[in-house]
Amino acid sequence: MLSIKNLCKSYQDVKETRLILKELSVEVAQGTSISIQGESGSGKSTLLHLLATLDKPDSGDIMLHSATQILDLVKFSESQADEYRKRQLGIIFQKYNLIDCITVMENLLLPAQLSKTLDQAYLDKLLTTLGMERHKNKLPNQLSGGEQQRIAIARALAHKPQLVLADEPTGNLDSKNSAVVSQLLVDTCKHLNTTLILVTHSQKVANLTQSQYVLLDGRLQMISSTL
Ligand SMILES: Nc1ncnc2c1ncn2[C@@H]1O[C@H](COP(=O)(O)OP(=O)(O)OP(=O)(O)O)[C@@H](O)[C@H]1O
Ligand SMILES: [Mg+2]
Repeated sequence: MLSIKNLCKSYQDVKETRLILKELSVEVAQGTSISIQGESGSGKSTLLHLLATLDKPDSGDIMLHSATQILDLVKFSESQADEYRKRQLGIIFQKYNLIDCITVMENLLLPAQLSKTLDQAYLDKLLTTLGMERHKNKLPNQLSGGEQQRIAIARALAHKPQLVLADEPTGNLDSKNSAVVSQLLVDTCKHLNTTLILVTHSQKVANLTQSQYVLLDGRLQMISSTL
């Protein structure tokens, strides 16, 4: 389970301190998916950065519980944060951020090698699930935007992370491709028992997740849930 309690985050502007997240709390059960919508500037990416340990909150707790351990993300040292990002975390951005000079399969091998969890049969199956098996020896720039984002999803899942953070992962795709790729992301995470936090501007995409939230006035408000 991912448990966020009373999370506060502010940024220092030239003249004032702006509080972006105001005692934000939420619990997400392991293997479930939530979507987060909200106006531009409401703090969605800020929240994902805190969950990715790329930044520290002013106060509050972020705990990630698994069968074997409880990780206290806010209290991580640099080396613990590195280890967490390598092993437990998968991240997908709007821009695919694939490495263009190596093949699709080599892109997928990187996170698995970094986290020392290389499972070639699993990677092949992942590519098949995402409909990308026949493209594995191509370079990313030989693929369409939708295809590249499928690879970015496979890469985020390559080391079987406990948590996946996706920031507008299909924002660059047309609405048909966006629906297909988002559905693949939600289904694959569910199948792997990976928790998914999906930030999106699209209600259609949000509808694919089990619980839907909106980030408003620094807090998460639940819109609906099927759990
Ligand atoms: N490093 C930073 N320093 C100062 N202010 C920042 C920083 N990062 C973000 N902000 C501010 O915090 C607020 C929230 O930004 P954030 O990127 O989290 O919004 P968002 O909800 O992801 O928006 P969008 O939908 O446009 O991506 C914005 O007003 C932004 O200008
Ligand atoms: Mg953002």
